[in-house]
Amino acid sequence: MQNEIISAAKMKVQQRGFLDIDLDPSLDLFAAIERLKKEKNAVLLAHYYQEADIQDVADYIGDSLGLAQQAEKTDADMIVFAGVHFMAETAKILNPQKKVVIPDLKAGCSLSDSCPPPLFKKFREKHPDHVVVSYINCSAGIKALSDVIVTSSNARVIVESFPKDQKIIFAPDKNLGAYINKVTGRDMLLWNGACMVHEIFSLEKITKLKVRHPEAKFIAHPECEEPILRLADYIGSTTGLLKYTQSDEASAYIVATETGILHQMMKASPDKTFIPAPPNNNCACNDCPHMKLNTLEKLYLCMEYETPDIEMDEALRLAARKPIDRMLEISKKAGL
Ligand code: 13P
Ligand code: SF4
Repeated sequence: MQNEIISAAKMKVQQRGFLDIDLDPSLDLFAAIERLKKEKNAVLLAHYYQEADIQDVADYIGDSLGLAQQAEKTDADMIVFAGVHFMAETAKILNPQKKVVIPDLKAGCSLSDSCPPPLFKKFREKHPDHVVVSYINCSAGIKALSDVIVTSSNARVIVESFPKDQKIIFAPDKNLGAYINKVTGRDMLLWNGACMVHEIFSLEKITKLKVRHPEAKFIAHPECEEPILRLADYIGSTTGLLKYTQSDEASAYIVATETGILHQMMKASPDKTFIPAPPNNNCACNDCPHMKLNTLEKLYLCMEYETPDIEMDEALRLAARKPIDRMLEISKKAGL
């Protein structure tokens, strides 16, 4: 009877999240999470866009490539993925035998949602002479329709691994695709998708900020639109941006990406100033609402109850794995 009650509660969480559960406010969540990691031999992987408390308790913090590489090599029994769904799904694709839990199953991605597999399948069928290069920010359904996956750290290297005359479809991010077209001189056919966070930056406000802070360098993620990227002193993935601020001489940076990365930048370079690039209205739209669905409380609960976890159809998993393996292989050869 007790077991039935527990599994009914788990099913509810799997479907609706942890909204109904009241946590003891005196619980030391940091200590409880550390205890659960040991008890369950769990590894906690977090993306740079997670809230600061989650980053501070993580075993590994990274960009999409780093997280996929960590997921591939972990020997933990359970992967706790503090990120969005496509990231946890990638970890599951690489580790079918392990439980992969995520604090909030509803943590999606506007970019991934902009590319539904049935529509993309038709698009691909119209261009049978093209290979498909897909950004990792997509569903398993899109991955299964792709020849190779890329992240913002390896997109250039992977695109350049194809012969110059190879016709390529790039999905789903048109901004990253346009940037890779520009730096490689290719003419890839771009799916019309975008990230709601990286499209919100205001050219006008950034230009004014640059005037007000002439000492600051402007750095941007390649998911930003082309006019914003044109102003940038450096363009790179979240890991690339972080490393740049560590090795570069400037004393201040205006940062055009999700605000979560500023936590690591400030930790690594406490004497430097980091200014989040402003969005084009007065909202906090440069906080990713999907990433920020994860909280320390939900993180603790998903570890304690081992739910919600990622479930996948095996045929889909196998089809989605091939292009991910190809990405990991090319990245390894390139020393990334
Ligand atoms: P990277 O992790 O590759 O920098 O991409 C950023 C992002 O938008 C993740 O959702
Ligand atoms: Fe998706 Fe953009 Fe959020 Fe990344 S920042 S998870 S691309 S919506």
